[in-house]
Amino acid sequence: MKSFLKEASLGLSKKNKKLSSKWFYDFHGSKLFEQITKLEEYYPTRTERKILKDNKIEIANRIGKSAVLIEPGAGDIKKIAIFLSNLDKPKKFIPLDISEDYMTKISQSFKRKFPKVAITPKGYDFSGNNKLPFKINSSENIIIFFPGSTIGNFEKKDAVKFLKMLKSKFKAKKIIIGVDLVKDIPTLISAYDDKKGVTAKFNKNILQRINTELGGDVNLNSYKHLAIYNKSKKRIEMRLKSKNNNTIRINGSKYLIKKNEEIHTENSHKYTIKSFKNLANEAGWKIEKTWVDNKKLFSVHCLNLAL
Ligand code: AVJ
Repeated sequence: MKSFLKEASLGLSKKNKKLSSKWFYDFHGSKLFEQITKLEEYYPTRTERKILKDNKIEIANRIGKSAVLIEPGAGDIKKIAIFLSNLDKPKKFIPLDISEDYMTKISQSFKRKFPKVAITPKGYDFSGNNKLPFKINSSENIIIFFPGSTIGNFEKKDAVKFLKMLKSKFKAKKIIIGVDLVKDIPTLISAYDDKKGVTAKFNKNILQRINTELGGDVNLNSYKHLAIYNKSKKRIEMRLKSKNNNTIRINGSKYLIKKNEEIHTENSHKYTIKSFKNLANEAGWKIEKTWVDNKKLFSVHCLNLAL
């Protein structure tokens, strides 16, 4: 909470105002994201699910036996269930999420469905340099499951850092990772600006949290949700554009947001198979196998340690 205050104050003081997308995910925001994944326009989730389903035997074989499965930013943990029963005696499943409340709640139904798999959910923010909330035994078959193209939220250098960290800190042997692909711009834009306005609500949840958690006085109606495609950086950028001259009061400080000024809230980078391969290689990982759907909308990769 303290860090949300710190980062929000810092982000709103800048010339180019920004709030990190990780603050979307409190309980309510995680629920909104769950709704996004079911939207007609939001192709990533259902496409990735199909890729995982169509290739579950091969994925399970590549994961191998007695796996310790770790899922950073696990969210609703529905994806691992696709291949879980195909795994050879998985040792345990450790879902990690920034919203501990949501994680604990979500894990209950998982326990009912997979009573034989040991699950130990933890609240954990993997974006920082935080100490792991569990012990790592490097001799185990540690597998990172990182679906959903969450990697897309990182700037390139941070993505490399993150992938390196999975090796150095988590002692991962392999990574199963979902990566959204570069495609035509209208498809991309509508995925982040849906007709029902769920993504707009999700985006504004960050302002809502400033109100409820930091005692802010933001009028959510005076901001407009924007999703634009940055062609040179190959990423969707979400922003909140101020419709009026606004002031936000947090903790005794005032932040001025001018009319038409934008607060940047998220980057969602898109890759080609080749650009992702380069990224993985730079972080010391080899692509063992890549799966894509027939429309080449989304990709899932199995990475292993380059020797
Ligand atoms: C959870 C980061 C993969 O970038 O597509 C969805 C988040 N933002 N709609 C994405 C998101 C707006 C999502 N990730």
